[in-house]
Amino acid sequence: MEYFKDKVVYQIYLKSFKDSNQDGIGDLRGIIEKLDYLEVLGVDYLWITPFFVSPQNDNGYDIADYLNIDPRFGTMEDLDELIAETDKRGMGLMLDMVFNHTSTHHAWFQRALAGDSEYMDYYIFKDGRSDRLPTNWESKFGGPAWKYAGHLKKWYLHLFHVEQADLNWDNPKVREELKKIIRFWKEKGVRGFRFDVVNLISKPEVFADDNCGDGRRFYTDGHRVHEYLKELVRDTGIEEMITVGEMSSTTVENCIRYSNPEEQELSMCFNFHHLKVDYRNGDKWELMKPDLMALKKLYIKWQIEMQEHNGWNALFLCNHDQPRAISRFGNDGEYWKESAKMLAVSIFLQRGTPYIYQGEELGMTNAYFSDIEQYRDVESRNYYKILLEKGKSKAEAIQTLAARSRDNGRTPMQWNEEMFAGFSKHMPWIPVPDNYQKINAMEEEKDPDSILNFYKQLIQFRKSRKALREGNIAFLYEEHPDVLGYVRYCDGNEIIVLCNLRKKCVELKEAFEHCKYVLGNYEKVEIGVEGLRLREYECVVLEKRIGAIH
Ligand code: GLC
Ligand code: CA
Repeated sequence: MEYFKDKVVYQIYLKSFKDSNQDGIGDLRGIIEKLDYLEVLGVDYLWITPFFVSPQNDNGYDIADYLNIDPRFGTMEDLDELIAETDKRGMGLMLDMVFNHTSTHHAWFQRALAGDSEYMDYYIFKDGRSDRLPTNWESKFGGPAWKYAGHLKKWYLHLFHVEQADLNWDNPKVREELKKIIRFWKEKGVRGFRFDVVNLISKPEVFADDNCGDGRRFYTDGHRVHEYLKELVRDTGIEEMITVGEMSSTTVENCIRYSNPEEQELSMCFNFHHLKVDYRNGDKWELMKPDLMALKKLYIKWQIEMQEHNGWNALFLCNHDQPRAISRFGNDGEYWKESAKMLAVSIFLQRGTPYIYQGEELGMTNAYFSDIEQYRDVESRNYYKILLEKGKSKAEAIQTLAARSRDNGRTPMQWNEEMFAGFSKHMPWIPVPDNYQKINAMEEEKDPDSILNFYKQLIQFRKSRKALREGNIAFLYEEHPDVLGYVRYCDGNEIIVLCNLRKKCVELKEAFEHCKYVLGNYEKVEIGVEGLRLREYECVVLEKRIGAIH
């Protein structure tokens, strides 16, 4: 069952990856066109964001039919071809299962709305008057988490968009329906699954007001979540497949249980604590410079505790819900190349399975949109209004979105210097950032020193060393304000990773004698007896061999 430890996953945000039929929207055939690129990059699995039938209120995370493909993304034949072509290249597809909620356009919800009590029990409806919300919980996209269905005199729960109604997992029929969906895609030849916000599926028995938060403490890592995951995995026979759960506001204790192989729940977990170190007082919409010491401490906590209890982390800095890491923790101007490579190393060689989000391997940056009309995401549009209501000026609200909007990670993949970055010949559904003539795959393929070529080396290096695939981790310079340092070790082989997180030079007293330089983001460093000087955002990877290398 160690099948996923040596693997690298690449996340494809379908809508923005490659448009094959020139309608401005990425699609399945677009992925087929780019499989050679992904094969050369060296990734093993492709996680594709949802392509199921959907009204697209939340870009496909609002699913109206889990067993059919939305025509704007292609056909079942296209998917069959994509599966066959990925298989041929020794890669596998991971599908995104959005099981906490369905679209309100789903047939189940439509029957519920028509008053069919069997289907009302698929969701979370509460009786009540239209002027009295069942609880004061807030939607993750802003506003109340309940919507009134007047003709039923009932409220329904939506932790996300009003058109994403939460499913009632306590109903065994719902669980059976969801298992059928997994079996269906498994039989198609899909090789793994990502489970969307799966730690929110178990709701409390009693729904009460939250006097000190937005309600999340009542439903996050809920009391039956582990039981439900075990049942889902066992009854669909996916124990041997790669699975990852997206865990919202979770704890390390729960992630140990989700990912410890003995529990037979999931292969690994995404958690987001390290991506909140630039939220002022934990509020995403209040800007703050990233607290790099807090970032380090979170890495240390999650790495060490997961290791001690045999849990497994999904390693990532970017996804479709996050601004670009290079713009956030690095420097997307003067030290663009150096800091992109350093950030890659900083996360990639930790203990866990690394994920690359499309464009990250090119050093794609935030979008720097300057007008609300350029934004597409419902969360951004909602919060723009909320920020104005709170008294922020338009300029401040735009500045906040420019740093925090999920659209920063959703702009079209920058393939080449042609119009629309080679993503499409048609105006894309979301604007292309201005920097595509410099930052694009074609340019970087030509440059041996590019971020893209560095990622290729990094992937091969990770695969070539058992210490990186399976070894333990220990941290170095834990209290150092600027340097993230760690060592991975196994069978007498040690890999030492040193990352200067800041735009300044740092002197390390230690000489790292008997170490060989293997990788870095500047020209090769001589390792001597003198100590080590790290330049702006410099990272070096060193190796010490005692025994044979595996
Ligand atoms: C996850 C997805 C995000 C979506 C939300 C609701 O966080 O990654 O894109 O909006 O779940 O499904
Ligand atoms: Ca298209």
